[in-house]
Amino acid sequence: MKTVCHLPYHSALKRSREESSTSEAQGLDRYEFRGNIAFQWDASRGLPEEYKQCDFLYAEPPFRPGMKFFNEMSGIESSYKDVLSTIDSEIHRLGKPAIIINMKKAPMVHADHVGDLELNGDPVKAYYYQVEPVSLRTTVQVINTLAKQYKCVGDFCCGFGGTGLRFLRQGKRFVMSDYNGKCIRVIKELIEHENISQK
Ligand SMILES: C[S@@+](CC[C@H](N)C(=O)[O-])C[C@H]1O[C@@H](n2cnc3c(N)ncnc32)[C@H](O)[C@@H]1O
Repeated sequence: MKTVCHLPYHSALKRSREESSTSEAQGLDRYEFRGNIAFQWDASRGLPEEYKQCDFLYAEPPFRPGMKFFNEMSGIESSYKDVLSTIDSEIHRLGKPAIIINMKKAPMVHADHVGDLELNGDPVKAYYYQVEPVSLRTTVQVINTLAKQYKCVGDFCCGFGGTGLRFLRQGKRFVMSDYNGKCIRVIKELIEHENISQK
């Protein structure tokens, strides 16, 4: 897993790099670090109890074309519509402020606003729940700003954990999950490598 630190984003677009870097990784069910939690969980089953402690939810779920790749990587069969619709109804049930990044026409029927952002240089849609749209350009700027305002972020499609790690670096907390247990292993290694000290 030496190359993990050069792969901060779990993307379906960088397939060959991803496969060579994570194929030998052992999945990990759960990792806890000073009150932060990362665990293996399929979001199409709903959002478990752990997310109740979050004061903001932020996630970059797969886009429809990336779903097949992520299913192959995780060994779990999940459909784009099921996972996105479940996320939308669970955010509504939990009643927490949230931002979901996805493609145009994602089934986020409970979102209050839709706006534009850039993710890794590409245009994406931001779906806002119980929060006003932000006038920032990139998803990274949004996460860093949220980390100043909120105490604990929840990300249920966390990939390599970019969202929670940005909160952690600002002395805040995270709850994160992904249906691919290899991502949880990567997050553990990134945190141990970076030697983050939490306020
Ligand atoms: C675009 S990536 C997220 C990247 C992440 N923000 C990062 O910083 O690396 C989408 C993630 O959603 C995960 N995913 C896809 N379907 C899922 C499901 N049903 N439940 C949980 N995670 C899922 C994939 O494994 C992948 O890690």
